[in-house]
Amino acid sequence: MDAAYRTMVMDRIMHKTERMLEQIGDRSPHVAREDGVYDDLPHWWWTSGFWPGILWLMHDMTGSDAYRQAAWDWDARIEHWFSRYPLELHHDVGFQFLPTAVIKHQLTGDQEALRIGLRSADFMAGRFNSAGGFIRAWNGDHIGWAIIDCMMNLPLLFWASRESGDPRYKHIAVRHADTILKNAVREDGSVAHILSFNAETGEFIEQLGGQGYGPDSAWSRGNAWGLYGFAIAYRNTGDQRYLDASKRIAHHFIAALPDDAVPHWDFRVEQPEEEERDSSAGAIAASGLIEIAEHVPHAQKRIYQAAAERILTSLTERYATWDQPEHQAILLQGTGHKPAGENINVSLIYGDYYYIEAMAKLNGWSRRIF
Ligand code: GLY
Repeated sequence: MDAAYRTMVMDRIMHKTERMLEQIGDRSPHVAREDGVYDDLPHWWWTSGFWPGILWLMHDMTGSDAYRQAAWDWDARIEHWFSRYPLELHHDVGFQFLPTAVIKHQLTGDQEALRIGLRSADFMAGRFNSAGGFIRAWNGDHIGWAIIDCMMNLPLLFWASRESGDPRYKHIAVRHADTILKNAVREDGSVAHILSFNAETGEFIEQLGGQGYGPDSAWSRGNAWGLYGFAIAYRNTGDQRYLDASKRIAHHFIAALPDDAVPHWDFRVEQPEEEERDSSAGAIAASGLIEIAEHVPHAQKRIYQAAAERILTSLTERYATWDQPEHQAILLQGTGHKPAGENINVSLIYGDYYYIEAMAKLNGWSRRIF
């Protein structure tokens, strides 16, 4: 991808997000279907940070005050839901407060954003199961479940340790990453979605399929979370095992991609050509591959950078809505939860977020939230 193409795509993104700002307004988008209209979910839903994350990122890239104003209140809106625990917020506070409170504090120095960010880190740390060394994922009955997605929530804890000077957040993040590395990342670089533990003794029980095709399958978005999450764990700790894990997941991910480089929703479905894509998995992996490229020796960089660019070029050319100005999303063909029959072949706000994030990084955006 040459410099002119990177700039051209970023220009398209800027035009698109200006339009999205008018179209989406105050809504909290998650999914847009065929009519191209993003829905409006309650702010406790795990995806509520991504739209304000796009706004903060675009403010940082362009300096435009319109983005800053639209993004400003989102950390407080989501924080409101802490009073409803244990019914709503869960380990995904990382996805919710990194692109709201944390980036707001980084960009503006706002002390209220710092307080909210640290409060969310306290909440996340409070979900740690010390017997099993994992952060509990969801609420409800599954007290002993940890999931691969949580690798992307760990930067909240690393950030909180840096801001507060208290290493306990980081200790929890490292224990959790070690548990996931041991039990979810397989020899061949594929990753399981859910890990089940005995919450009382901490004993590991089994891998579960979750949003993937089965317990021994490779849900592409989960694999993208793992790829990116371990690279971030390396950035925050310098522990080579995490970078090696990220690379191993990346090698499996790249090798399993179809010809157009945008993954199907699971790499191990029986008839992939009959299955839906998940453009969001491609976008997340592309941003993660760029992260890996930042940490490997010069001779290795090209492998990861080229794979990221191949995915992003395909998303740009074949999966985007540039010629549909009324469509409120950027990427088409995301798949939320195929086994549950939910949100299949739709636009997903996190697909849009990570696509923009990856393209912004290729255009010199050096701030790191995740
Ligand atoms: N974190 C849930 C998902 O990726 O669908």
